[in-house]
Amino acid sequence: MSLPKDNKDSIPEPTKGLEGIVAADTTLSSVNGEKGILRYCGYNIDDLAFSTTFEETICLLYDNELPNKERLDEMTKNIGEARVLPKEVIEIITELVGKTSPMSTLRTVVSVLGHYEKNVPLKELPPKALRLVGQIATAVAMIHRSRENLPIIEADPTKGHAEDFLKMLHGTDSSKTQVNALNLYLILLADHGFNASTFSARVTAGTLANLHSAITSAVGTLSGPLHGGANEKAMDMIIEVGTKKKASDYIQNAFDTKQKIMGFGHRVYKVDDARKPHLKKMAKKIWEEKNDMKLFEVSEEIEKQVKDRKAIITNVDFYSAPLLYGLDIPTDLFTPLFAMSRIAGWTAHVLEQYRNNRLIRPRARYVGQIDRTFRPIEQR
Ligand code: ACO
Repeated sequence: MSLPKDNKDSIPEPTKGLEGIVAADTTLSSVNGEKGILRYCGYNIDDLAFSTTFEETICLLYDNELPNKERLDEMTKNIGEARVLPKEVIEIITELVGKTSPMSTLRTVVSVLGHYEKNVPLKELPPKALRLVGQIATAVAMIHRSRENLPIIEADPTKGHAEDFLKMLHGTDSSKTQVNALNLYLILLADHGFNASTFSARVTAGTLANLHSAITSAVGTLSGPLHGGANEKAMDMIIEVGTKKKASDYIQNAFDTKQKIMGFGHRVYKVDDARKPHLKKMAKKIWEEKNDMKLFEVSEEIEKQVKDRKAIITNVDFYSAPLLYGLDIPTDLFTPLFAMSRIAGWTAHVLEQYRNNRLIRPRARYVGQIDRTFRPIEQR
């Protein structure tokens, strides 16, 4: 773009979407987009996926170490006890459901929960962050039960996070496969470098605004269809396609009309997303247990039809969709479920930002007109 020569604001060409820009150091997670490797604190996600629990992942992100049994028991108890909401917050949920989306309600809930917390010094912040991890799960379950006019199921702190969430949501016990599937989902989506929502949490924390302000920013950022909102849209597509036979025409039409196909493409991955094979394997298992492979097979066919036409990677949101749907989770709760997992990474990143803070303040290049002649309002 050519700028007026005397434009004093002219600065280097911006990198659109900050692609490739490294904004900070982190010890939490690393994404190797060329090889499709995701690590949490140095551990390959392939090793953690089927051998740990969400609670262990939180310990890892908060402590930078995998827990011993004592630490894990303490973490499980603390998160379990945190799965309660102040009664005023329950009333706000009841007031909002049906009037706005679950994701908007969740954003409001996170913001309101901040009013029930004291400002504490940094060393006392992890328990406060952990409370939010527990509370978000309860809020998501309550949003659903409240809109369905179903009685609220109280949390059982003796249960693991995934199992108790499914109980609070459905009101019934889930199978071992279902609990394992949700646990896997929560582990795999817990952190992912400087994704858009994590970055917005860190920008907010970087001003030394409080934890709940930072997480409110993150929830809002996650909601967009180019980020966390893609899982819901991917499921809508799978349902709309409905049969394997229709996948080819549907995908061809999407490419012809230049639509973005949800669950595909990524800014960092050049090969399939590191989390995809695990989510796909677990989604298959869930539908096998239901003895109904139709939607899973449609998903596989969509993936094939996309890849036959363009070298485009499958991202985390694509197989998250049939996995969550197989757990009888309504599609408009998919992005809140993403938040229920990513809260682990968001809070860990906010803690990391506070520990080594510098205001995050990039510049914009001004490309508008300059030296305009001011005219008072009565002359315009
Ligand atoms: N469907 C069709 N074409 C796509 C898709 C897609 N999902 N994603 C990328 N492309 C194409 C673009 O049209 C573009 O093609 P061109 O070079 O021929 O014009 C090229 O691939 C590059 O795409 P960009 O949009 O420039 O890539 P960017 O890095 O800016 O965007 C994003 C990444 C937003 C994830 C994009 O791939 C997308 O919109 N995907 C669909 C939404 C989605 O699944 N989001 C979830 C991402 S994972 C997460 O946030 C949890």
